[in-house]
Amino acid sequence: MQNFTFYNPTKLIFGKDQLSQLQTEIPQYGKKVLVVYGGGSIKRNGLYDKVMAELSEIGAEVFELAGVEPNPRISTVRKGVEICKNEGVDFLLAVGGGSVIDCTKAIAAGAKYDGDAWDLVIKKAFAAEALPFGTVLTLAATGSEMNAGSVITNWETNEKYGWGSPVTFPKFSILDPVNTFSVPRNQTVYGIVDMMSHVLEHYFHLEENTDFQDRMCESLLITIMEAAPKLLEDLESYEHRATILYSGTMALNGILNMGYRGDWATHNIEHAVSAVYDIPHGGGLAILFPNWMKHNLNVKPERFKQLAVRVFNVNPAGKTDEEAALEGIEKLREFWNSIGAPSRLADYDIDDSRIELMADKATVNGEFGNFAKLNHADVVSIYRASL
Ligand code: NZQ
Ligand code: ZN
Repeated sequence: MQNFTFYNPTKLIFGKDQLSQLQTEIPQYGKKVLVVYGGGSIKRNGLYDKVMAELSEIGAEVFELAGVEPNPRISTVRKGVEICKNEGVDFLLAVGGGSVIDCTKAIAAGAKYDGDAWDLVIKKAFAAEALPFGTVLTLAATGSEMNAGSVITNWETNEKYGWGSPVTFPKFSILDPVNTFSVPRNQTVYGIVDMMSHVLEHYFHLEENTDFQDRMCESLLITIMEAAPKLLEDLESYEHRATILYSGTMALNGILNMGYRGDWATHNIEHAVSAVYDIPHGGGLAILFPNWMKHNLNVKPERFKQLAVRVFNVNPAGKTDEEAALEGIEKLREFWNSIGAPSRLADYDIDDSRIELMADKATVNGEFGNFAKLNHADVVSIYRASL
């Protein structure tokens, strides 16, 4: 286990009917509030009206930025930064999924930066300051509600990058499972794949003596896999929505990965696909992750075998580590297929015509991945196996 410092200042407010806590949280930061949201789901399910009622109770002066895209764009971030700078906004409230939250993080930091917010995303500049912000989460997936990460797309240049800074943790996040009832089936599935992928990204590392961390990762995967099919039978089950919502937060808030560094190559490979084709992040991961696993099986077969045996109940008797590992990878694929996730790039009408371009984007900073270093040829090979 490596030395580590754990830091996570986000206040998590979980459960039914917690929205009124906006009345105690927001006034600590000011009166001028920019509410950031997406393409209209919060208007259709009534959450918008409820949030506005809470803001009215505290006499907030409200500004709005609507229309944040799934795979949020730097052009929208710039609009938000302009509102903050022109109006002297004190606090930002993200009401939505990971895209809305990530966009809000970039606006919050962009508002305190003199140049273009894209500089922060490409790490030309470091976000040393940000406006305070909170979130009302509506979709279980990214963990953005309790981490400092943000993923922003530049649609003009087909680039999509993750960035973050200690100042881009939300001050608080309100997680009411009821606010996720209206998430459609396909987005629910993408969210489940995404949170499982976060656990898997952690799991593939080269560090020794991480028994507790391994068991936590495995138990989270098992929990998600038990709850997911039940939730998909009944999308308005409070119990299963709550399990999945809590799981998504725990998968990427730093709790699981103390003392080691996970791999994270598959996320990089997926971001290059969604930067070029604008596909849902979770859909891309379901296609790519099993192929990343097969490509890197030989780096440490016993790690893949451990996952196969402990999470996918593979019986290792009479099998080599590689055989048991491959069986586990197939079971992961089968599970994702069983809940309706895609398994081939062709499911999104993606053929081999832009593979080189995507691999160029994935390797723009050279080789990457902490468990296995991938170069351009490796990435092309994983894309080809995913066609
Ligand atoms: O825009 P609206 O109308 O709100 O609709 C959204 C959107 O179309 C809809 N939705 C959200 N909550 C809903 C709902 N529909 C009905 N009822 C609700 N309660 O769902 C669609 C997808 O929303 P989005 O926010 O894009 O999904 P998600 O939370 O999966 O976020 C995906 C983005 O996060 C990035 C991804 O790359 C992608 O850009 N990621 C961010 C991470 C982070 N910050 O830590 C890590 C992740 O690995 C990921 O890369
Ligand atoms: Zn992800």
